Amino acid sequence: MSARSLFWRKPIAELVPEGEGTNTLKRALGAGDLVMLAIGAVIGAGIFSSIGTAAAGEVLPSGEVVRYGAGPALVISFLLLGAVCALAALCYAELASMIPQAGSAYAYSYATLGEIIAWIIGWDLILEYAVGNIAVAIAWSGYFSSFISAFGVSFPDWLTHGYRTALLSSDPAVHGLLETAPRIFGIPVLLNVPAFVIVMLITWLLYIGVKESIRANNIMVVIKLLVLGLFIAVGAMNIDTANYTPFAPNGWRGIHQGAAIVFFAYIGFDAISTAAEETKNPQRNMPRGILGGLAICTLIYVIVGVVATGLVPYQQLRAADPLARALEVAGLPIASWFVAFGAVVSLTAVLLVFQYGQPRIFFAMARDGLLPKFASKIHPKYRTPHITTVITGLVVATGSLVLDENEIYDLTNIGTLFAFAIVCIGVLVLRFKEPDRPRPFRVPGLWIVAPVGAAACIYIMKGLPVRAWERFGIWMAVGVLLYFAYGFRHSLLRRRGAAPSTERTDG
Ligand code: ALA
Repeated sequence: MSARSLFWRKPIAELVPEGEGTNTLKRALGAGDLVMLAIGAVIGAGIFSSIGTAAAGEVLPSGEVVRYGAGPALVISFLLLGAVCALAALCYAELASMIPQAGSAYAYSYATLGEIIAWIIGWDLILEYAVGNIAVAIAWSGYFSSFISAFGVSFPDWLTHGYRTALLSSDPAVHGLLETAPRIFGIPVLLNVPAFVIVMLITWLLYIGVKESIRANNIMVVIKLLVLGLFIAVGAMNIDTANYTPFAPNGWRGIHQGAAIVFFAYIGFDAISTAAEETKNPQRNMPRGILGGLAICTLIYVIVGVVATGLVPYQQLRAADPLARALEVAGLPIASWFVAFGAVVSLTAVLLVFQYGQPRIFFAMARDGLLPKFASKIHPKYRTPHITTVITGLVVATGSLVLDENEIYDLTNIGTLFAFAIVCIGVLVLRFKEPDRPRPFRVPGLWIVAPVGAAACIYIMKGLPVRAWERFGIWMAVGVLLYFAYGFRHSLLRRRGAAPSTERTDG
């Protein structure tokens, strides 16, 4: 088997019928559903939580600066990210409309860059979907706890903080849990139970079928938009323009590093491309859904950024619940409570979309033989990829039980930006290799959009701490080893030897 065979590409003509055959998912979604799905995925922990660190920066108890904050110039970080994501979104839209199949960037890169790159992307997307959702579940738990505390209800701290969170926290009250938590065999029991429970509930919802879940998502999106509208309306009336000075306390470095953190707020518009196989008329609806969703979210972030940094001095945003905190500091406790409620709802919607996307990527990889065959089974009654749905649910729920959210933001961001860069390159390669293939949606000025998009993603990645790069390197190395241990030998494309299609090229 030659090294060139690692770059065999899956013919697109073969991908499309696969999405039309009998072992397929139910086509139930329209463009409106997709925009709602995008908003459901995008507005979540990033704007409700990581915005605080992006504005104020992060400093260890030792005084070491992990990252510089953007200050009020956070607005520039948002605009920068909006532009970068628009470039990547255009590329996603072209590929999603050409290759309307479950599997997102994984399926696209299989058709454009070859099997090993597809595997690397599929493995990388786990960072975006499953690992990212661990952070969202932990953030959900935090907001949920503060939300119910308004009613006088509270759980013991050792049942709402994971072990890693206690270990890494510089907050003495949280770090002290290592000493005060009950012990089993000498090990402190520190489990984030609410995070575990919400992930399992969502897994059940997804197990029983997409239509019902989409309906739930639509309701949550409406609530999320209402609550952010409330934040903007109430906050805007209480802005103190003195808070805008200094505008960029850490200069471009702060804007860049702030963007690298708050990029988490943008992750998700691409998630809807994983629903291509369940979309009615995907050639028309996918591009509309992706670009429409991104435009709406960017606008909301810019406005929220202006209001949040105008409401209080930016240093005050360094909190687990920066938007609610900003309102509280400004003397608006009732609005603050509503925002906490909105955060719980928003994060639930994000969890839903990512728990929806990950199993479909596993499903697509298993169908290609890169993962074990049982993962490509579809539930006979619900027509959902139930096995991968349950596996993803268990992995994410268990991770959120014990891990820490901050480290996970970095890892998810670096992995997602890498996937975006590969998609930008992929769409360019495909235009070059197969210029005549029908493209229901064409990126305007692709020869500029794709290279600039890929370079911009790598530039944002450079704003992340060194530890994120190290962990990303380890993750990818493990992925390559797994490929040679399993996928390399079981890949259907490879087992077939000479593919029947004349389309296949050797890279
Ligand atoms: N963009 C999503 C969020 O902010 C992942 O939670």
